Amino acid sequence: MRIVNIVGARPNFVKIAPLIRAMSAEPALTPILVHTGQHYDGPMSEQFFTDLDIRPPDFNLGVGSGSHAAQTAEVMRSLEPVLDSTRPDLVLVVGDVNSTLAAALTAVKLRIPVAHVEAGLRSFDRSMPEEINRLLTDAIADLLFVTEESGRKNLLREGVAPEKIHFVGNVMIDALQASRPSWERSSIASGIGLDGQPYVVVTLHRPSNVDDPRTLLDYLGALQELARHVPVVFPIHPRVRQQLLRQGHLTESGTPVHSKGVACLDPLGYLDFIGLISRARLVLTDSGGVQEETTALGVTCLTLRDTTERPVTVSHGTNRVIGADPTRLVREVMWSLDHPPAGYGLPPLWDGQAAVRIVKILRETFEGGSRA
Ligand code: UD1
Ligand code: UDP
Repeated sequence: MRIVNIVGARPNFVKIAPLIRAMSAEPALTPILVHTGQHYDGPMSEQFFTDLDIRPPDFNLGVGSGSHAAQTAEVMRSLEPVLDSTRPDLVLVVGDVNSTLAAALTAVKLRIPVAHVEAGLRSFDRSMPEEINRLLTDAIADLLFVTEESGRKNLLREGVAPEKIHFVGNVMIDALQASRPSWERSSIASGIGLDGQPYVVVTLHRPSNVDDPRTLLDYLGALQELARHVPVVFPIHPRVRQQLLRQGHLTESGTPVHSKGVACLDPLGYLDFIGLISRARLVLTDSGGVQEETTALGVTCLTLRDTTERPVTVSHGTNRVIGADPTRLVREVMWSLDHPPAGYGLPPLWDGQAAVRIVKILRETFEGGSRA
């Protein structure tokens, strides 16, 4: 069984690592890896292949950045000949980025079955590009692997046949557990002079938080204010860097003008980032994956959004959704530093075995002759 696996953006690399490993251990499966090239800077792409020991992609489509339409279309246009030549039995997509939807759409039009890993998550906010990608990918996928119970409920409500849905756990947590010895060795915290000290880590990249110049500057102002109380570390996503560059808000050394007192860094590699957040007192984020990783690590997370598509991180984990409002940021952080979460637990099936479960289901589905 030949499986074409699609990756394009930073969180995809983390999700595919345990899947490729599990597929490679299964003689009946031949995994093929396709990188769309949606993310391409070293710290956003290659570093993850190194950190997570992912073999080099068999194909790199080199799609790069662009508008939603251009990027989605370019992935489709350049993936089609790859699928024609490799003739896979299945295309597997992960997450909710443009590459995910584009690849799923390309495959179904060629009548190739599609598996979606991390299906069913819903923020119920269609202004998020990811929500559109999630809804459409799930509508055309043949096998839907969900990370939490809410995923199953959402899919059933949308009319997906129950036999297509498999609750398998979370491959992102597989990656976290498998690489623990490596990220525990990271010396990033001492490298920036924070070892043993309480500190806050921030990540921001949702268009609703960073694309409007005023909102982004308000966030930077709030972080600067927060840094008067507790050290703040801010690895900056290229989307934010591009915004600041466009607005002329970078100093000559490349740090944001309005973030004095905040340790601004380039995006970190996976092992350093997890090493850093695992020792943080608190994480402020609008990332999907980071809400899950902080839950698994037991680190307090405040989510700078009005919704989360990952409610289990709130019901079981350490996450609190505090709203996309820079004016509340300092108050909420100070409150949370005084009130750590009373108790938290790992969500069901977040046990490091999700990829193994997925591969078993893939093999059985195809061996049973009931092609997805
Ligand atoms: C994308 C995903 C988002 C995901 C995020 C993970 C979509 C619609 N969005 O958002 O769901 O949470 O990745 O990080 O698929 N850029 C670089 N170098 C790079 C990559 C991007 O400079 O290697 C800059 C470019 O200016 C680009 C901008 O970042 O235009 C945005 O990149 P893009 O991939 O379109 O969206 P992200 O914001 O990264
Ligand atoms: N991450 C990283 N370095 C960073 C920021 C994030 O390695 O500087 C990792 C993080 O641990 C998680 C993934 O990138 O595994 C999440 O990606 P991102 O927040 O960009 O996307 P999202 O999950 O929101 O789609």
